[in-house]
Amino acid sequence: MSGSGIRFDGVTVAYDGTVVLDALDLVVEPGEVMALLGPSGSGKTTALRAAAGFVRPASGRVFLGDRDVTALPPHRRGIGMVVQQYALFPHMRVEDNVAFGLRARKVPRAEARERVAEALEMTGMGAYARRHPRELSGGQQQRVAIARALAIRPDVLLLDEPLSALDAQLRSGMLAELARLHRELPDVSILYVTHDQGEALTLADRIAVMDRARLKTCGTPQELYRAPADAFTASFVGNANLLPVTVGARGVTLAGAEIEVDTGGVAPGAPATLCVRPHLVGLGEGPNRLTGTVREIQWRGTTHRLYVEVDGHRVMADLRELKDPPVPGDPVDLHFAAEDAVLLPAGVDHG
Ligand SMILES: Nc1ncnc2c1ncn2[C@@H]1O[C@H](COP(=O)(O)OP(=O)(O)OP(=O)(O)O)[C@@H](O)[C@H]1O
Ligand SMILES: [Mg+2]
Repeated sequence: MSGSGIRFDGVTVAYDGTVVLDALDLVVEPGEVMALLGPSGSGKTTALRAAAGFVRPASGRVFLGDRDVTALPPHRRGIGMVVQQYALFPHMRVEDNVAFGLRARKVPRAEARERVAEALEMTGMGAYARRHPRELSGGQQQRVAIARALAIRPDVLLLDEPLSALDAQLRSGMLAELARLHRELPDVSILYVTHDQGEALTLADRIAVMDRARLKTCGTPQELYRAPADAFTASFVGNANLLPVTVGARGVTLAGAEIEVDTGGVAPGAPATLCVRPHLVGLGEGPNRLTGTVREIQWRGTTHRLYVEVDGHRVMADLRELKDPPVPGDPVDLHFAAEDAVLLPAGVDHG
């Protein structure tokens, strides 16, 4: 199994004249895990289907390594795919489900048996080969779906929200399993669709953010978290306070207060959005002080989440070890370090 990577080169997909994937340019390097993150309907599944060959682009090309596979049918692309609603064949035993892609590819029986055993072993399902899907839990069924995708020894694995049907605890267990699986198959490129930013941040080498048929941005989790390019990305990758500010010569004005931040290339007088992560907001006096009124407070296990109204804007603060938490209606001061704020050029472009 040698790595090949995926390249989308201006891939456009339209249904009945409506463009649902708009000139996607994206490269997944050999062995890389790329998360495709974005709201419902933004085109994530469509991108995967275009890579797998289940939908024909109106224009653009798909490459696996240096092979142009745009015109190839799905079974000749060397891609394993786990679809959004994992679809095991209910009347087939686990082993036959996993062997399915091998039969279609006419892999000789003895070799197929070996590969099925290997794929089930890798997903921790070796002991369940003779069972039917109805005799498995949701998480186990999901492992079988992954085993089925692995059995063909793909260069590229496409996973479409593989954990969305599982409860939170099972999901974090499976997430660790997927990370382990990837360590065992370091050459396999993975394109992983999710709504869940936690999954994307945990698993991905890079995250591609989709919005309304377009690729909005692509970068490492750290890049997108620390220095998002726009308000949409900031709010989609982690929690964010997005505050409308006016740019001055040395900083910005927020709710009447002067804040010294790096204004980068934003011109004085221009409207802009200041992004501050809730866990970087402190309670009490400090630099860049904001005065407001507590509207709500939530206990979240390791932190208190405070919602504070500051000059008509809602500011979130995640506070650890709060000895004497304020109550709704209390006046409070908030502060943050200038270097923890990022100035984004546009206004808030998404709710
Ligand atoms: N077969 C189809 N015929 C017509 N429109 C389609 C078809 N498949 C998808 N669409 C439309 O294309 C757009 C993108 O769909 P897609 O399934 O790629 O979204 P998604 O990002 O995967 O969303 P979700 O997170 O809900 O799965 C949607 O508006 C959807 O209604
Ligand atoms: Mg989808």
